[in-house]
Amino acid sequence: MARLFLAILIISMAATTPPAQAQAPTNWAKRLNPGGGPESITNLQFYFHDIPSGQNPSAVQIVKPATAGTSNNSFFGMVMMTDDALTVAADAGSKLVGRAQGMYTFASQSDLTVLMAMSFGFTDGPYNGSSLVIVGRNPILETDRELPVLGGTGRFRMARGYALVKTVSADAKGNVVVYYNVTVHAPAFGDAVHAPVGEQAMPAGSPTAAANALNSSSSSPVIIRGNRRWMVSVVVAFAAFKLCFAV
Ligand SMILES: *[C@@H]1O[C@H](CO)[C@@H](O)[C@H](O)[C@H]1NC(C)=O
Ligand SMILES: *[C@@H]1O[C@H](CO)[C@@H](O)[C@H](O)[C@H]1NC(C)=O
Ligand SMILES: *[C@@H]1O[C@H](CO)[C@@H](O)[C@H](O)[C@H]1NC(C)=O
Ligand SMILES: *[C@@H]1O[C@H](CO)[C@@H](O)[C@H](O)[C@H]1NC(C)=O
Repeated sequence: MARLFLAILIISMAATTPPAQAQAPTNWAKRLNPGGGPESITNLQFYFHDIPSGQNPSAVQIVKPATAGTSNNSFFGMVMMTDDALTVAADAGSKLVGRAQGMYTFASQSDLTVLMAMSFGFTDGPYNGSSLVIVGRNPILETDRELPVLGGTGRFRMARGYALVKTVSADAKGNVVVYYNVTVHAPAFGDAVHAPVGEQAMPAGSPTAAANALNSSSSSPVIIRGNRRWMVSVVVAFAAFKLCFAV
């Protein structure tokens, strides 16, 4: 009877424990095809904090709006420079995973539409040091916007993809928090044999699992496979050379 009670207690505790994801979305970047293949597909979800106000703004005006040829509320011609924080949750105090450095320029003569040109540099887990370049038209008052991912570096070398973005909050001072849901396809070599010097293959699974497996004390099977492939090419080339000159 006591055992049954204990079992029920354990089951009910398990059922009420919230999933780790709900408390802290630390798994902000997920590999969608952990099995590998010719390309890596990654989904990244984070919050972009554009803060033009206060003592230490992350967005500053570098060019004033044009005075002619524009409606008074579209800020046509204005250029902002940014170094905006990217975090795992809408709360500015949540974990920082990167920064969006670049510009947005007010590109419409009649409404609030900007042209974004930014490098999203990541600093967390296995994505530390990798970046994505996002350039495109962003009609900031629309609920759902889409921006093109034009390229990247590191694990996102030769990447292409898209970002689905949505403003989650905006205040009277112009401080804005935007949710980014980015899907990126990149050739698998970005995280395999052609990884930047000092980096090893990105293992399947969560960024934490990947970070552990990226521990320099563990060896990477992909690097070994790369070396073997190289050795095989040398042997084949040598055999071909011998064959040609034997005739
Ligand atoms: C800007 O506002 C002023 C005053 O309201 C108005 O006279 C002017 O025509 C406006 N300019 C444009 C381009 O809409
Ligand atoms: C990211 O990489 C840089 C350079 O290798 C290193 O100094 C920094 O501590 C790393 N950051 C994290 C959060 O791992
Ligand atoms: C993020 O984008 C992906 C791909 O477009 C979509 O399948 C997914 O539902 C989106 N997730 C959220 C939380 O919006
Ligand atoms: C890397 O591996 C060593 C030895 O197994 C361990 O002591 C160390 O904590 C690991 N580092 C990380 C970041 O997991």
